[in-house]
Amino acid sequence: MQTTQATTTYSYQVVRQFSVMTVVWGIVGMLVGVIIAAQLVWPELNLAEWLHFGRLRPLHTNAVIFAFGGCALFATSYYVVQRTCHTRLFAPWLASFTFWGWQAVIVAAAITLPLGITTGKEYAELEWPIDILITLVWVAYAVVFFGTIAKRKTPHIYVANWFYGAFILAVALLHLVNSAEIPVSLWKSYSAYSGVQDAMIQWWYGHNAVGFFLTAGFLGIMYYFVPKQAGRPVYSYRLSVVHFWALIFTYMWAGPHHLHYTALPDWAQSLGMVFSLILLAPSWGGMINGIMTLSGAWHKLRTDPILKFLITSLSFYGMSTFEGPMMSIKTVNALSHYTDWTIGHVHSGALGWVAMVTIGSIYYLIPRMVGKTEMYSTKLISMHFWIATIGVVLYIASMWIAGVMQGLMWRATNADSTLTYSFVESVKASYPFWTIRLVGGVLFLAGMFIMFYNMVRTMAGSKAVDAPVLAPAAAH
Ligand code: HEM
Ligand code: HEM
Repeated sequence: MQTTQATTTYSYQVVRQFSVMTVVWGIVGMLVGVIIAAQLVWPELNLAEWLHFGRLRPLHTNAVIFAFGGCALFATSYYVVQRTCHTRLFAPWLASFTFWGWQAVIVAAAITLPLGITTGKEYAELEWPIDILITLVWVAYAVVFFGTIAKRKTPHIYVANWFYGAFILAVALLHLVNSAEIPVSLWKSYSAYSGVQDAMIQWWYGHNAVGFFLTAGFLGIMYYFVPKQAGRPVYSYRLSVVHFWALIFTYMWAGPHHLHYTALPDWAQSLGMVFSLILLAPSWGGMINGIMTLSGAWHKLRTDPILKFLITSLSFYGMSTFEGPMMSIKTVNALSHYTDWTIGHVHSGALGWVAMVTIGSIYYLIPRMVGKTEMYSTKLISMHFWIATIGVVLYIASMWIAGVMQGLMWRATNADSTLTYSFVESVKASYPFWTIRLVGGVLFLAGMFIMFYNMVRTMAGSKAVDAPVLAPAAAH
């Protein structure tokens, strides 16, 4: 009995677990985002040492990127690789280890970051014992993913898997190189690099964390779930292959745009700027490929809120990948750097692209994980969509205005060359915009609670099921 089941059904358990935790960690991470947004409006909310803005900010970024985004990537990649390779996961027990191991990493982050235990490197704050656990989980992830590809029953490898595969390999490389550190105690280490080399490696890592963790993996999601939900084949398979190679080649070189006007040699800054401008082309190629997949099925957008999430996410992807290259131009960066413009850019990518494409794909997955075809309530998904969209727009529009205002105030000079405004005046002028951002964040978080309720109602009273493996000729 066991053998028959093992060869004839997909392993959905790990997909189910990661899908549920995506919603849970989404709520936790965004709640911390709302708290730090509130602390900027009401500084008195910095109630205790471990609740200070400086401690909670990295908790927010780690929770949303690695817990929320990470669980979504594990869930969808495990689902997509099985379905498109027409085979059960390779070593499901190892996949189960990646689930529990990743949850352990998240809990360790949630304890150590508020305690102030940090390497101080942005997006790589976790100390060395946790880094080792991340490495173990990641190696297991690679074995399960590529093992499944190796035992596939199809002659070709679907493009979504190329993106997931690149994401897994690139993140392994980034993590190993950037986390090279010398421990001095159980919870303290120092980077193996120093000075400008340390900065360059850190932003090679930081930018490619955006390129591979927050982009390539989510493009894998896009290439599977947009065609599935639209019921149409990918607009151009050829474009998807060009998109893949151009994107992964170009991303690697763009990191120095985070270090404009620093001690980094000027040629390296200019190289980063040029590669960032080139990056616009593959990014838009991918966006167009996703949106055009809807050709002949545009009418579905009217009635299908899951498709609305997926397609709107692509619009935000297009917006943030137009804005990014503009911000990498040195003269533009001279204005935008250190201001809330960067925060607006980050969240048009993070909320508009990453969170929305995740939400769409998880709405697709959850009913299928319990043998249903639809979520408990389509109306609630629609409500979630509108609340989330209004939330993102309030968030990013307020940050753009605040950012440009701050940049202009800091560079304004009087006739005698003294500064027109003190820094505190620019802080005071930012308050109304920080309040609007807080409202946007609260709306986005409210949408996540609606999703949680819808998920619980969909799963309540139903049995976990593993669908039968389809013959290669059948639909994915
Ligand atoms: C309810 C939703 C959210 C709210 C209210 C929120 C709020 C915030 C706030 C207040 C900051 C600090 C800004 C500052 O230092 O001035 C921040 C930073 C950040 N958030 Fe969010 N956030 C949300 C969702 C997300 C999501 C879903 C992601 C990623 C998938 C994300 C990624 C980031 C990143 C990467 C930063 C650091 C940006 C930088 O250093 O330039 N956030 N967020
Ligand atoms: C063509 C694509 C993109 C380019 C060329 C680009 C470029 C840039 C530039 C120039 C900055 C400002 C650096 C600074 O002044 O410090 C920046 C910051 C950032 N971008 Fe992008 N961006 C792109 C797409 C995205 C996307 C899609 C996301 C999110 C999913 C994203 C997330 C971020 C984050 C998190 C930061 C803040 C990093 C930090 O300082 O902590 N970017 N990006």
